Amino acid sequence: MSLAEWQKIEVRADRSYPVFLGAPLQELGEYLHSQMDDVEHILIITHHSVADLYFDRLMEGLQDYRVNLFKIPAGEEGKSLERLSQLTTSALRYGADRKTLVIALGGGVIGDLAGFFASVFMRGIRLIQVPTTLLAQVDSSIGGKVAVNHPAGKNILGSFYPPQAVWTDFTTLESLPWGEVENGLAESIKHAIIADSDLFEFFEKQEQSIKQRDPSVWREMVARSSAVKVRIVSQDEREQGVRALLNLGHSFGHALETEMNYRGVTHGQGVSIGLLAAAYLANAKGFITLDEVDRVKHLLITFGLPTVIKGQDSQALLQGMKTDKKNQGGRKILILPKGIGQAVVSKECTDPEILAAWDQVISSDDEVES
Ligand SMILES: NC(=O)c1ccc[n+]([C@@H]2O[C@H](COP(=O)([O-])OP(=O)(O)OC[C@H]3O[C@@H](n4cnc5c(N)ncnc54)[C@H](O)[C@@H]3O)[C@@H](O)[C@H]2O)c1
Repeated sequence: MSLAEWQKIEVRADRSYPVFLGAPLQELGEYLHSQMDDVEHILIITHHSVADLYFDRLMEGLQDYRVNLFKIPAGEEGKSLERLSQLTTSALRYGADRKTLVIALGGGVIGDLAGFFASVFMRGIRLIQVPTTLLAQVDSSIGGKVAVNHPAGKNILGSFYPPQAVWTDFTTLESLPWGEVENGLAESIKHAIIADSDLFEFFEKQEQSIKQRDPSVWREMVARSSAVKVRIVSQDEREQGVRALLNLGHSFGHALETEMNYRGVTHGQGVSIGLLAAAYLANAKGFITLDEVDRVKHLLITFGLPTVIKGQDSQALLQGMKTDKKNQGGRKILILPKGIGQAVVSKECTDPEILAAWDQVISSDDEVES
């Protein structure tokens, strides 16, 4: 397969970069040879399990380089200051310098950690994102946000650091467990709701093929969903305006994840509940019909994503939303769908309206989930 046959979309930003879709891991080396003739040393950052699956394939094209591999265990703990410090120590031991290229091979945790490292090591070295989860392919590898966590909060230490390129090999998704697929699906469905009604219909029509992991349908799903993210971040790299729409469902979802101490609810499940809560709120505001709310609900259920959560206290969840980073002057800023395929930033939601939305996605312990 030649470069020209892959799909290439460009993130237009202060420093533009290509997103290659369907690009085989083993061909990344050829691309590097053609684009970066001063690279001699490469530092690949990944999870142990991802290295077992894909390091050899990636290395097929990197035989001419001096390559070091930094592997970490899976989990959000990977995005810690301690891990960043270990990574720095190892990089120096490997002889990394300003010309070293970092390759982030993995999901969002690896992309964020490796990206943040690349942004600060010797004031910034080059980075290629090689996303291997659905969430990373459609979302986190695109847009330049990189971060590590701090005991005070998630992603507290971060920056905008665009990669040289995003190299997306769809075939890596074949090994992804369904639980991880759900996290990416929630974000992909979010992209469809905020910006692409055709993509939403695609999800509705291709439900079975997506569940059966039909490769051509997955390609299309990833390509179309990535394109939404590329389009939005190209309009607003630094989240001064339209990029905020990507937070649809996340104010509700984060409040839920925090309230549950990140236990018993995955990020994708939080986003799923959040998408539906936002849709109910949008319906109360007259932005979306009940039929459209039902379509959102049905789609989430179709893919095994939750639409109700048991035994939560809506007042506590409302309280949790008060610390949302988007709020301004004590006012809650929420993203709401406007029909399917558009979204708006709303500063006009009252606490009773938000509580009512929460109540529609909370079931009491003895209620049966729909
Ligand atoms: N920078 C951004 O714009 C942005 C956006 C959204 C989320 N994020 C961050 O992304 C992180 C979540 O990312 P994630 O959902 O990709 O989770 P993850 O990176 O933790 O990966 C999930 C699991 O899948 C495994 N895995 C990765 N690729 C695999 C493959 N091909 N086959 C089998 N297993 C594989 C990983 O080892 C891990 O166990 C969070 O830290 C979140 O804050 C960042």
